[in-house]
Amino acid sequence: MQAIVAVDLNYAIGNKGQMLYHLPDDLKHFARITRGKTLVMGRATLESLPGGKPLKDRLNIVLTRNRDYQAEGAVVLHSTQELAEYIADIPPDDVMLIGGDSLYHELIDCCDKAYVTKIDAVTQADSFFPNLDDKANWELVSCSPTQEQNGLHFSYCEYVNQMVEPLL
Ligand SMILES: NC(=O)c1ccc[n+]([C@@H]2O[C@H](COP(=O)([O-])OP(=O)(O)OC[C@H]3O[C@@H](n4cnc5c(N)ncnc54)[C@H](OP(=O)(O)O)[C@@H]3O)[C@@H](O)[C@H]2O)c1
Repeated sequence: MQAIVAVDLNYAIGNKGQMLYHLPDDLKHFARITRGKTLVMGRATLESLPGGKPLKDRLNIVLTRNRDYQAEGAVVLHSTQELAEYIADIPPDDVMLIGGDSLYHELIDCCDKAYVTKIDAVTQADSFFPNLDDKANWELVSCSPTQEQNGLHFSYCEYVNQMVEPLL
C-alpha cells in the first residue's frame, strides 16, 4: 500500500471536514498517481469528496464502524482486518491510502511509500498527517523543484518506509 497526501508546513491536511488549499495542479498529480488503482479512505474523507461520491475510474474502499453505512459505488468495510482480507490479492503498489487523519495515523506504517505534496503555507486546521520527518523508519527520497499556483508554493516529495508493518 502507498499513501498520498497534501500537507502544509504543520503537516496539516484539513479543517472542518474539508481540504485546506485549492491547488488544481496537485489534484491532477493526485489523479495521475491514483488512476486505475484501489483507493482506501475513511468515511469522513469519502463524505468530503465532491458530492460525497467515490472517485471515478478507481475502486473506492471506505472504512466505517457503522454496519448500516452504505455508499453507492464504493466498497464499505468495517475494520483494518476486513481491509487486509479484501486487498490481499491486489498488488500492494495498486492500493493507495488517501486519508484522512485517522486512517493515515492508523495505517501509515503499513505503507511502503508516501507521495507527499508539501505546501509552503500555514492555516487553521483540525486534521493532520503523521510527521514522517520525525519517524525513524521513513526516509525522504526526492522532492520536485518548487512550483507555484494560486499564490502558493509547493513541491512533490516522496518518502519510503524502511520497515513496513503488516496490515492486521
Ligand atoms: N490534504 C489531504 O491530502 C487530505 C486527504 C484526505 C483527507 N483530508 C482531510 O482529512 C479530514 C478527514 O479526516 P478524519 O480523520 O476526520 O476522517 P477519516 O480518516 O477520513 O475518516 C474517519 C472515519 O473512518 C472510519 N474509520 C477510521 N478507522 C477505522 C477502522 N479502523 N475501522 C473502521 N472504520 C474506521 C470511522 O468512520 P465512522 O465514524 O463512520 O465509524 C471514522 O470516523 C478532512 O478535513 C479531509 O478534507 C485531507
